Amino acid sequence: MEKVLEGVVNDTIAVFKRVLADYKAELKIEEVGTVKFVGQGIARVLGLPGVKSEEGVRFPGNALGRVFNLDAEEVGIILLDKSEHLKAGNEVRGIGRVLDVPVGNALLGRVVDPMGRPLDGLGAVRLSERRPAEREAPAIMDRAPVTVPLQTGLKVVDALIPIGRGQRELILGDRSSGKTALALDTIINQKDQDVLCVYCAIGQRSSAVARLIADLHKYQAMEYCLVVVASGEEPPGLQFLAPYAATTMAEYFMEQGRDVLIVYDDLTHHARTYRELSLLLRRPPSREAFPGDIFYIHSRLLERSTHLNAARGGGSLTALPVIETEAQDMSAYIPTNLISITDGQIYLSPDLFQKGVLPAVDVGKSVSRVGGKTQLPTYRAVAGNLRLSYSQFEELEVFSRFGTRLDEATRQTLERGRRVREVLKQPQYEPMTVAEQIAVLLAVTTGVFDDVNIEEIAVAQKTVCKALTEQLPDVCKSIQDGKILNDGDHDALLKVTRDALTSSKNQSANN
Ligand SMILES: Nc1ncnc2c1ncn2[C@@H]1O[C@H](COP(=O)(O)OP(=O)(O)O)[C@@H](O)[C@H]1O
Ligand SMILES: [Mg+2]
Repeated sequence: MEKVLEGVVNDTIAVFKRVLADYKAELKIEEVGTVKFVGQGIARVLGLPGVKSEEGVRFPGNALGRVFNLDAEEVGIILLDKSEHLKAGNEVRGIGRVLDVPVGNALLGRVVDPMGRPLDGLGAVRLSERRPAEREAPAIMDRAPVTVPLQTGLKVVDALIPIGRGQRELILGDRSSGKTALALDTIINQKDQDVLCVYCAIGQRSSAVARLIADLHKYQAMEYCLVVVASGEEPPGLQFLAPYAATTMAEYFMEQGRDVLIVYDDLTHHARTYRELSLLLRRPPSREAFPGDIFYIHSRLLERSTHLNAARGGGSLTALPVIETEAQDMSAYIPTNLISITDGQIYLSPDLFQKGVLPAVDVGKSVSRVGGKTQLPTYRAVAGNLRLSYSQFEELEVFSRFGTRLDEATRQTLERGRRVREVLKQPQYEPMTVAEQIAVLLAVTTGVFDDVNIEEIAVAQKTVCKALTEQLPDVCKSIQDGKILNDGDHDALLKVTRDALTSSKNQSANN
């Protein structure tokens, strides 16, 4: 027994000797700074002469921060974690690299904070790779023109303000004008379209975000979605970082050749958060007290959205940044900045919202500067001049309010225009397929809906869509595939539309 014990002891000693023989004492230099001031989401730190801009730092309790200002005597840091426990005199250590976030396919279907920490209670997100939150935009030579449409499922957008994959289209409007609803419908419409979606909530109320996530689950959109949340209660530094981190996560998918859609909801909050941090860290304020580089923080973010060329995998990142205007002022500082950075805007008008024209898109003030080239040819054939005739109608309608007597042609233009407006209305959560959109647009532009009462247009649309999917599946398919409508299909579509309307009329007459 003693022999055995002695053997074990000798073996153990041998192992220890071997390990110690390999051990080399290493000198590790670590800079340690001292907190001079902490509060309101920022810290000013003395020491740390070697830290770099955008480097991550750690406070006691593992609280994260990011270097924001590098001054002669002190370092200004934005805090990314709750900081109640921190106080002056605490130690600060640099992590030795720029702040990075985890990326990977495991993020799909998850709700995370900008640092990739789960918020959905589904346990840790297993990711092995990390990439910097702020990355350079792809070079010009790596980019390809935008050629493929991104269908929103909303007639007014797809027909009049089409968006292409890789484009940046601003959504702007006053509070509660349906901005989030438009973005959400677009996400819901990406089901089975091979487009992954990233929704980045910045500075919103948690209840609003919770409602949105519930909607994503309800319409089975969560499986192809990633939600990145920095709500209004989070430290301002985390809110500021959210869109950059979300873009890094989205770029991971893009670089695998996937088409990705990212929604920033909203950048008004983001700009305000940046102003708050800059003022606290004493950067000089300029117009509306925003710091001088406010344009740059949004342009460097949105420049990362693009369509990569085939050599880089051919993926794309489409951005829908959201901006909230005040009192319908599109020409305020932040909105004009964003309008000039993006490739077009969708303006939502509270007046239209009040009149019940939903989605409340003001066609005259909205534009898409690159999407037109990507639009499926069928749209151009059916609704090519709709934009022009619709704005002419709107002008005419204003005039006709003065009670002048109208000639027959004007009256007809007005009647047609009202029907077009009725057709462009669309309830929330009901995105339409391309074929359905084409069928109703064709019906209204060729005058099939002229004999339908305005109040019955919504029902008539449903009838037409149902008849189409039941009776002309081949035509549906060829429209969906982007083929141009030939004469035969065109006539067949109109015939089915007319027949469906007549039979539903007869039916309601019989009842
Ligand atoms: N097309 C629509 N049909 C019906 N209701 C809508 C439509 N678009 C938006 N809404 C409703 O309008 C309200 C405000 O929309 P929301 O998207 O939250 O506004 P915002 O993001 O501009 O503040 C919501 O209650 C939403 O359900
Ligand atoms: Mg909103």
